[in-house]
Amino acid sequence: MFTTRFTELVGCSIPIQQAAIGGLATPDLATAVAQAGGMGMVCMYWSPPGVIENVLDDLREQTSGIFGANFIMRFVDPALAHEAVAVAAARANVVEFFYSDPDPSLIETVHASGAIACWQVGSQAEAIAAVDAGCDFIIAQGLEAGGHVRGRISMLALLDEVLETVDVPVLAAGGIGTGRAMAAALAAGADGVRVGTRFVGAVEADAHPKYVNALIAAKAKDTIYTEAFSTGWPDAPHRVLRGCVEAAETFQGEIVGEKQLLYIGGKRPIRLFEPISIRKSETGAIEAMSQWAGESVNGVKGVQPAADIVRELVDEAEGLLRRWG
Ligand SMILES: Cc1cc2nc3c(=O)[nH]c(=O)nc-3n(C[C@H](O)[C@H](O)[C@H](O)COP(=O)(O)O)c2cc1C
Repeated sequence: MFTTRFTELVGCSIPIQQAAIGGLATPDLATAVAQAGGMGMVCMYWSPPGVIENVLDDLREQTSGIFGANFIMRFVDPALAHEAVAVAAARANVVEFFYSDPDPSLIETVHASGAIACWQVGSQAEAIAAVDAGCDFIIAQGLEAGGHVRGRISMLALLDEVLETVDVPVLAAGGIGTGRAMAAALAAGADGVRVGTRFVGAVEADAHPKYVNALIAAKAKDTIYTEAFSTGWPDAPHRVLRGCVEAAETFQGEIVGEKQLLYIGGKRPIRLFEPISIRKSETGAIEAMSQWAGESVNGVKGVQPAADIVRELVDEAEGLLRRWG
């Protein structure tokens, strides 16, 4: 029932892509989602090619399922971009980009190394640019999304504009945390859904328990679209829990805590209003750190294995789509 142009293109059995949720998207999370039939994702940030190779080789040993590697282009060293992307594309099924203008030469590198290419976009114009650059599918990210938000309009409005313009498979992102929202996106013509905030509450995600508890207690109205957490990454609106903005505004001092460095080891201070992934190993004023959350946050009702999240979304969406005929 869930065969879509997306599942056919990438080889998943279920049209759910777990969003790359920064450093919270552990290889174990990507594995669990891939094993459940969806697409798992890991975020490569600015990792050097050697690190990318190790992480993705280990991931491939953990699963024969479908997974992708995510690059936020704002942070990728242009001198290393092609090498990093080629290393990722030789190991992952999908290489995906977010931020910066869609770049045809990077898409060529993905294809030459044997992977499928995708760009997460926030407007009709960006969708057209991504397809013109050669992307095999795209993600339309609406204003409801958690984390950094490229979209300036709501997911359904964007989906409408994008679907009438491009002919590659389109995933819907932003505000999808339940099977009901997934069914709505599929019914509106999406070829699949990309889910972020809901997976922050997965057992396999590396999210700090205080952050997860704040998500569990929150509703959509408790999120805010803001540029508050812009230290080191300006001009990049994002959606977080309103409470963490208030806590950061009243925080005394410039350093809110300490961060364990991902993949390379070591620690560093976390600056006030710095955008970070709040991992389990973070220490300090967790309540004043960037608690990314989409309007989908109501879907986070507890800590669950990722496979259960996938199953719940699919069962509910399937039931509703059947009922709606
Ligand atoms: C905690 C968190 C971290 C995120 N980190 C990334 C990232 O590293 N790369 C990326 O492309 N998108 C990132 N996003 C945005 C997601 O790709 C996606 O658009 C968003 O989660 C969809 O909305 P939802 O959170 O309501 O499901 C992140 C989102 C969240 C919630």
